[in-house]
Amino acid sequence: PTMDKSSTKLNILEIDGVPLLLLSKEMWDEICNFPARPDDLILATYPKSGTTWMQEILDMIQNDGDVKKCKRGGPLERYPFLELKFPHKEKKDLEIALETSSPRLIKTHLPSHLVPPSIWKENCKIIYVARNAKDCLVSYYHFHRMTSLLYDPQNLEEFYEEFMSGKVVYGSWFDHVKGWWAAKDTHQILYLFYEDIKKDPKREIEKILKFLEKDVSEEVLNKIIYHTSFDVMKQNPMANYTTLPTSIMDHSISPFMRKGMPGDWKNYFTVAQNEEFDKDYQKKMAGSTLNFRTEI
Ligand code: A3P
Repeated sequence: PTMDKSSTKLNILEIDGVPLLLLSKEMWDEICNFPARPDDLILATYPKSGTTWMQEILDMIQNDGDVKKCKRGGPLERYPFLELKFPHKEKKDLEIALETSSPRLIKTHLPSHLVPPSIWKENCKIIYVARNAKDCLVSYYHFHRMTSLLYDPQNLEEFYEEFMSGKVVYGSWFDHVKGWWAAKDTHQILYLFYEDIKKDPKREIEKILKFLEKDVSEEVLNKIIYHTSFDVMKQNPMANYTTLPTSIMDHSISPFMRKGMPGDWKNYFTVAQNEEFDKDYQKKMAGSTLNFRTEI
């Protein structure tokens, strides 16, 4: 099956060399002028790094493990996505954010140097989730196929080239993870890794609780871990994006909750691609103290 990808009205516009999905340049100006509030919690990620997963964890924390409250809407109804205008919504998410009462949780995929300056000025708490590039690439490839918001890549080889050269929407994965890693030195940013959360969700959720200065009982903590596990989220219509019109996401092409497993890239990379990747990766990450695991 193929999707009609011509009706989203979104354009890929380059802002400071980073391709973004926007309605217009005016919309970009609005994003730059977005007034953050000091008690906003910002969830920042490169696409396909576990954003939806972290949203569910944060929602469960904010609602003290009340599953029913966390099923009040799909991921896109519960939280504004700072820089996006969804074709099925009348308003831009940014406008919805302005009408949302505090404390807000705001999702963004923007690289650190492009977030609205008010986020730094108001000293908002930020949680960043990073995922290893190989799995991120494979996940992003499948996401392109199943959503009308993004173009159809010809094949994985073509997408591989675009991803490595940073020509994909939101730009270079390398710049993204490094930029936010550096921003951590001067701002309150909790920098987490997808692979760590998968390996030891309890430990990582405890880090989040500490960062948010929140306390929950052992029982609630266990409930959060269970409710946000891949298998449970995959079955939860309020977490798995199946409440969206199929004209925006077609899960029959590739489900949003696809594999949820570190190391899936091995099913896609050829030996030659992997060698080329590792070489290029070394160069692009040279001098960085960031360490990723590509399997657990
Ligand atoms: P895969 O395509 O590798 O399965 P994002 O929310 O940033 O778009 O990221 C989506 C990726 O996170 C998908 O990866 C999805 O399956 C995975 N994911 C979502 N919920 C998850 C969970 N509870 N545990 C592990 N992975 C999860």
